[in-house]
This record gives sequence, C-alpha cells and structure tokens, in this order.
Amino acid sequence: MRNKIVAGNWKMNNDLLQTEELLLKLQEKKFKKGVQVMVAPTFTNLWHSVKKLKNSEIEVIAQNMHFAEKGAYTGEISASMLNGVGVNTVILGHSERREYFNEEDSLLKKKVDAALEHDMTLIFCFGEKLEDRELGHHFEVVRDQVKNALFHLKENDWSSVILAYEPVWAIGTGETATPEQAQEMHHFVRNLITQGYSKDIANEVSILYGGSVKPDNAREIFTKADVDGGLIGGASLDASTFSQIVNSF
Ligand code: PGA
Repeated sequence: MRNKIVAGNWKMNNDLLQTEELLLKLQEKKFKKGVQVMVAPTFTNLWHSVKKLKNSEIEVIAQNMHFAEKGAYTGEISASMLNGVGVNTVILGHSERREYFNEEDSLLKKKVDAALEHDMTLIFCFGEKLEDRELGHHFEVVRDQVKNALFHLKENDWSSVILAYEPVWAIGTGETATPEQAQEMHHFVRNLITQGYSKDIANEVSILYGGSVKPDNAREIFTKADVDGGLIGGASLDASTFSQIVNSF
C-alpha cells in the first residue's frame, strides 16, 4: 500500500553503545501520525534494536542480505536469519552495495526473490551516477535498474515493494536533487510500472527519495506528488535531525 515512509539508513556507523544511545533518544521523540518510521542498524545491532523498540512504532530493518537460504557464504546473512531476529524489511540495491560490492541487477533480482519468499518487504534502491545524468542517460539507467531486478515479479508481489530513488551524485555529498528532479524521476518510474503492470499497482507503490535529505529540504521534497518519503543516511544518525525530517510531512 502507498504509505508515507521515512527510513534511516545507519550504514556502517554506531557500535552497540552508540546504537543504544540513539535508540533511547529516538524513543523520546514524537513522530507525526501516519508516517511509517524505520531504522536500519548494522547486522550486529539488529537483535538488540528489535528488543529495544518492541513497544515503539519504529520498525527495525536490515541494510542488506544474501539470496541463499544458508551455506558456504562466509560473512553473509540470510533472509531467515533476519526473520529470526524479528526483522521483516530489507534494503536492497543501495548504490554503495552496487559500487563497492559489485552488486549487479542479476544478483539483486535473486535477492529480491529471496526476500519475497520470506514474506519480507523490500526497499529497492536505484539511481544514476553523475556521468549518467551529465550525458542525459539517467532515465535509461534507472529504467534498466528497475526493470532488470523487478519486472519479473507477479502483480501481487508489488504490495511488498517500496522503491527508493537515490541519485548517486546526491548521496553523502550534501548535494540534493531539486524537488523537481526528484518528482520528475519518481513520475517516470511510476509510469514505467503503469506500462509494465497497471495504473493501480503503480499508484500503490511508495517511492522514497534519498540523497542528502536534511530538515531544511525535506518538506519541499516530500510535498511533491510522486514522492512518498525519504531514505535518510547521514541525517538519520542524530535523533533530533531525523525526527525533524519525519515531521516535515
Ligand atoms: P545521505 O544518504 O542521506 O547521507 O545522502 C542517503 C542514503 O545513502 O540512503
């Protein structure tokens, strides 16, 4: 269902004590009703975070997972391991995974399938690099990323998919896409889904924007018609900043 969502991607930050501190501060915050709030700590802090946030409305989600059920994949984590600690949503295809860990569309497709087989919700990230945009290829790049990893899905599967447009040039750089650039791409992606599936499915998918979202630009971005929320990196590491972003809706 199309929801308003703000998810904090903590990336490889915060040890157990720092996680504990941030969770405590987040629990003291009042979040606007009707906005789904999620946080993605590192694997080692997931179980602790799930327990700490048991009575809160904040959902704990994972930053990544492997596609296999189990086996000889040193250092990896499976969907059922995430389910086992109470995590039922996972971020897939973040540009840092694509860039530093060579995650390609074919691998992401397998991860998408594994998450859905485990009844998980996935936040599927996509976005062009600076050179793609400068060459005017950004729509093609995004179209291929979305189609290659998701367009084999059955209609019903889309109710478990959240999309996140994250232009690589805007991640962690302080440079944000303008609200118009975000809207333009979100609208393009919603149209793709209309063409590949149906208008109903396209209208039900939440599409988040990510890339240097801060309290002073969140409101303008979130008011755009096809922007349903944000995937927040750096600014999610501070409870006050993060709650200001959530409350920008
Ligand atoms: P940023 O990261 O907010 O620090 O730019 C966004 C993301 O990587 O999801």
